[in-house]
Amino acid sequence: MGRSVDPWNNDAMTTTTKLTRMDESTAEQWAAIGKETMDNQGRVADGVLALLRSLADITDGFAVDQLTHCLQTAMLAERAGANDEMVVASLCHDIGKAVSVPNHPKIAAEILKSYVSDDLYQVIRAHQDFQGRHYYHHFGGDPNAREQYRGEPWFDLAAQFADEWDQIAFDPTYDTLPLEHFEPRVREIFGNPKSL
Ligand SMILES: [Fe+2]
Repeated sequence: MGRSVDPWNNDAMTTTTKLTRMDESTAEQWAAIGKETMDNQGRVADGVLALLRSLADITDGFAVDQLTHCLQTAMLAERAGANDEMVVASLCHDIGKAVSVPNHPKIAAEILKSYVSDDLYQVIRAHQDFQGRHYYHHFGGDPNAREQYRGEPWFDLAAQFADEWDQIAFDPTYDTLPLEHFEPRVREIFGNPKSL
C-alpha cells in the first residue's frame, strides 16, 4: 500500500530531495540533505575501519604489516595514558598509506581533521618529519627536520608520538590487541564531527 512521503518532513522514511543543481536549491532541501548526512554519519567510521583493515595487505619490507603497525602504535599510546583522541589518531596515523605512501601523512591528517583537536591534526600531518630523526639520514635527508616546528604548542606531543610510539611499533612479538579493541572509540570519534 502506497504511503505519501513529504520530502521536507524530517520524520519521513526518506528525505530524498529534488535537488538537481545547487544554484536552484532551497533552504528546505539543504535542511533535508543535512539531516540525511548526519543520520548517515556512521558510514565515516565504517570507511575508516575498512581502510585500516586494508593496511593488512601492506608490509613492504617491514617486520609487521601496516595494520599491525597502526594497532601497535595505538596500543603504545593507550598504555602510556594517552586520551581517546590521541589513541584514535595514533591508530589512523598511517591510514593514508592505503591510498598513497609518499603523501600519506597529509591524507591521514585530513581524514582526522574534523574529528580531533587542531594540535592532533598537526601532530599527524607532521609526523614523518618527527620520525625522520630515526631514519632520514639513510636517504640523505635532514634528521632534524622536526626543528622547523620547534615552538609549536604540539611539538612535544609530536616528539613523544614519533619517538616513544610510532618508530618502535614494528615488533612482531609485542602484545598488540586487534582492531575490535579500538572500534568503539573509532565509532565515537568519527561519529561526532567538531567541524564541517
Ligand atoms: Fe607509522
